[in-house]
This record gives sequence, C-alpha cells and structure tokens, in this order.
Amino acid sequence: MCGIVDYIGKKQAAPILLEGLSKLEYRGYDSAGIAVFDGEEIRVEKATGRLKVLSELTHDGETMPGSVGIGHTRWATHGEPNQVNAHPHYNKNKSIVVVHNGIIENYLSLRQRLIQKGYEFSTETDTEVVAQYLDYYYQKNHDPLTSIIKVLHRVEGAYALGILFKDHPDTLYAVRKDAPLIVGKGKEGNNLIASDATALLKHTRDVYYLENNEIAVLTADSIGFFNVDGDPVEKEESRIDWDESAAEKGGYEHFMLKEMYEQPKTIRDTLNPRIKDGNVVIEELGMTDEEIRNVGRIHIVACGSAYHTGVTGKYVFEGMCRIPVEVDLASEFRYRDPILGEKDLVIVISQSGETADSLEALRITKAAGIMTLGIVNVVGSSIAREADKVMYTWAGPEIAVATTKAYSAQLIALYLLAIRFGQALGTVDAKATASMISELKRLPDQIELLLNNKEKIQNFVNHYLAAQHIFFIGRGIDYAIAMEGSLKLKEISYIHSEAYAAGELKHGTISLIEEGTLVNAIVTQDALFAKTVSNMVEVKSRGAFVMAVTNEGNTEIENTADLVIYIPQTNRFFTDSLAIIPLQLFAYYVSVGRGCDVDKPRNLAKSVTVE
Ligand code: F6R
Repeated sequence: MCGIVDYIGKKQAAPILLEGLSKLEYRGYDSAGIAVFDGEEIRVEKATGRLKVLSELTHDGETMPGSVGIGHTRWATHGEPNQVNAHPHYNKNKSIVVVHNGIIENYLSLRQRLIQKGYEFSTETDTEVVAQYLDYYYQKNHDPLTSIIKVLHRVEGAYALGILFKDHPDTLYAVRKDAPLIVGKGKEGNNLIASDATALLKHTRDVYYLENNEIAVLTADSIGFFNVDGDPVEKEESRIDWDESAAEKGGYEHFMLKEMYEQPKTIRDTLNPRIKDGNVVIEELGMTDEEIRNVGRIHIVACGSAYHTGVTGKYVFEGMCRIPVEVDLASEFRYRDPILGEKDLVIVISQSGETADSLEALRITKAAGIMTLGIVNVVGSSIAREADKVMYTWAGPEIAVATTKAYSAQLIALYLLAIRFGQALGTVDAKATASMISELKRLPDQIELLLNNKEKIQNFVNHYLAAQHIFFIGRGIDYAIAMEGSLKLKEISYIHSEAYAAGELKHGTISLIEEGTLVNAIVTQDALFAKTVSNMVEVKSRGAFVMAVTNEGNTEIENTADLVIYIPQTNRFFTDSLAIIPLQLFAYYVSVGRGCDVDKPRNLAKSVTVE
C-alpha cells in the first residue's frame, strides 16, 4: 500500500525522503513522488515505476534543495498508476501540497462541489480534492490548522495525510483516520512523519503514534498535537525496539529468504516469554480460569495468511479444548452481520495490525460489546491499540510482502492460547502441558533442520517452473497448511494454484487433474493418513505427479508419492509449523526460478489499509 515519509529539519530533505521511501518499498507501490520547499517555491517531482527512477530524476535528491518536504509511494486505487496521478498532489499554484494514504470515499461529491466553485482538477485521484479543499478554506482564513480542521469535517473515508503550505515552510502538518501515521522525534532539530516505523529507524526510535483525527504540527524543533476542535492534545512518547538491521537484508538474496531463516528466532521470541516455571503464562490475556470457562464461542477473524493460521487455530482449539470456534475472513465477517454471543471472544489476527477489513471487524465486535483479542505483530498499530487485549507476535519487521515469519509466530500464539484455554477447561492436564511445551521448544531447531535441507526442493522445482496449475491437498490441519502453501506459491510465482480439502477432490476438482499436473499433498495427521493417501492414489492414477509432505517414519507413502519431504515428529496440533517450511521454500524457489520479484510481487501490497 502507499507509503508516506515527511521531513522537517536542518538537513537536506530530499535525500532523507528518498531513503525513507526506499524502506517502504516492500509495502508495494507503482509510482513515487516528493515535494520540497526550496526557499521560494514548493518543487514537486514524480515518477512511475520503481523509486530508482525518481532518485535518478532528482540525482538522489540533490536537484531538490530545501530542508522541508513530503514524500510518497503510491499504490493506485483511484486513477491509473501514471505520473499525473502520483503524489504529492497540490492546488493550482502549488502553494499547498499533500500526500495521502487511504481512500477519500466521498471524493466525487466533493470534487463536484469544488468544480461548481470554479476549481479545475488535473488528476483522477481522490487525493486531489484534499489539496483543493485546503486551498478553498485557506483562501478564506489563511490559517493552515483551521483549514485542515475544516477539510476533516468534509472528508469521509480513511486517510493519513502529510501537508506542506508554501506560506508556512517552517511547519509540517499531518493527520490520520484509519490509516497509520507515526511522528518521529529526531535528534537536534530533525523531525519526521512516516506511515511505517521502518522509515524512521535510521533517524530515531522515539515516536508518537497518531490517533484517529489527531493533527500533528511539526517544526524542526517542536512537535505539537491538536484535536479536530483545534485544542492541544497531550501525547505519550513511545520507543520502538526494532533496530535498523532487522529491516535490512543482511546478506540474503531476498527478504523472504531472510525472514524464512528468522523463523526459529521468531518462534523462540514469541514462545519463551510465555513459558514460566514449566507452564504457559499469557499475562496479556488477563483472564482467570473462570472467565475462560465462561467464553461461549471463539471467533477468529483475519485476512489472507493470517486467516489460514486462524483455520489451523480452529482445528487446534476444537481438538484440544473442545470449544466451538468459527473462522471468518474479515472482509466477510464485517458485512455478514455475524451472530455474536455476549460471552464470545473474537480473536483478530494481523501481522500489520492495520488491515482495513480486520480493523473494521474488530470495531464492529467492540461496538457490540464483545471481548476482543488482537494477535498482532506491529507494536502500536491500530488493531493493537484498539483491541481489548493484545498478544504480540515477536517477529520483528516483516518486509517481504509474502508473510513467513509472522505466520509462524501467529501459529505459536494460537497454540499457546489453546493450551491455556485447555487448562482452564480441563481438557489439557499438567502432563499434556509439559509434553506440549517441550514439543513447542523443539520447533525452532526442527525448522532450522528443514531450512538447511532446502536443496531437495530447490532441485525439484526446476521441473515445475513452467507449470500452469499446481494443486495442494490435505485434510484437517493439513488442509489449512495446503491453503497457505497454495497462497504462498500463487502470490510470488504467479502460477495458478488451488488448495482443496482432499475429500473434496471427487466433488468436481479431480476433473482438473491431467498428465503431469503437480499435486502437493500434506499428510501430517496420523488419523487421516490413509484417507489422504487414497486421494493421492486417485490423482496419481489420473497422471498427477505427487509431492508429499509427511512425518518422519511414514515411509510407506513412498509407494504412492513421487517425491517425499519428511518433517520431524511433533505433537499433531503443531505440524503446521513444520510442514509449512518446505512449502515456503517451494514457493520461494519457483518464484526465483521464474525470475519474479520475490519480495514485491506484482499488484500486491504488504499492508492492505484499504478495502
Ligand atoms: C500473504 C500475506 C497476506 C496477509 C494479509 C493479512 O503472504 O501476507 O495474505 O496475511 O494481507 O495481513 P495482516 O496480517 O497484516 O492483517
């Protein structure tokens, strides 16, 4: 999604903006632009394509002198991804420039009103109405803050805005609603604004998280906050723990590979603080055994890969705790008027903590008075701040668009929660707890082993680089793993792929199987082993080539599968954490082999902050 970096201070702004925007490239974008006040005018440069083009155009920012500016990477929503529609946008004489993340939902009616007042529009974007409306009010009152407040009362939708007025070049303005924005308190008179902490880390770790409808007013030496009535707001400073190196590639060819290799650490970081004296202790849950026993039903709501961890979570919670669990895609949940009991618990899972649908699902739930728990990776993100309770997944910054380590951390959070619930509900005793903790603690080493044996997959994928369709099948938890394996593959390799509950094959899907079709079968659940193997036989007899991912010791599968990847033995509830590793590697090497942009796949964005 779009990214924002704004700077005001004593240094040259343009190189700082470009460098900051480069840290946001992973979010996905199709054009970029910066605006800098050069002492007389605000100069704007924009370019389509990669940020590199903008850097070349401005000689790494050198041709745009000035110490205050705003920058943006755009992921097109309204209007083609071309130079005209790229941000920053401005009024007629370029005296007010704006960068914007999000969507102004009522932009068409606002635009119409301004046209009636004689305004002309040069772009197809929703953002331009903000710049033009600011102009309209600024003409009347000549006060930036008052003009911003007036515009906020007009616009509907989601927005994070960075604004620069030519008449007030010693001040930067920013405001947000339902799109993240962070103010960075730099050292020695250098302040910044960014949509994502990774763009600030080089300059500062001291930040303020803007709340909805808060306006930040920055000079080189001061930072102030106001509400929409224009009253000052006191805000608490926060500190970001991530260091900059966590957001760098560190010698790996791609962020995705680096992040796959970080999974053992991610798991340890998410797990260890919650194991105390041989027991699972989730302090942030803050629920007594009785409160847990009182929970009627669990709803897990999320999007994409986070939804897939939710599907695994359903099998784990229901299997381990015998408590009913519903899993919903957030985009469906928010519109289906879900039936929620007052004793229910809604768990919203999100790496970014900013996914628009997940955030809205959370808000709907809260408005209904139902308890919410966020499983979130980005500290201080909207879901983390708005959920009643938050359980952080300590994965650190995830840069590759395709999630790997955050996915793994989400699984751990769900396992821990399930054990805690099981204890309170009496389905998990002390012996089972001890055994599961010991299995969880072994996962990082087991994952390392799987990652280090990557060559088998690397060699195998070469035969499938030109595949048109690849299928993934599994039952129970293995079906959830199949869904994630399939998503990983399609999003970064652009090969069409589907995941099926293996038992569904006969109900239509098997007609897609033809000579040479690759079917990846996930077979980690002993109770379902024979069932899935018989599905493998069915596809094989129709010409499919079958790769199986199964537990060590299941050697009889070699009679059916053409290639077998073994995962170490673990508790049956935790096999997703291991079986996903070869599937991540599979997707990664197919993507590399096909020459795709592994970390920034086409059309995708890391943080989906619009519907
Ligand atoms: C796929 C992927 C996405 C995200 C989804 C939710 O690799 O990363 O499917 O899982 O967009 O994002 P978060 O977790 O940030 O809410």
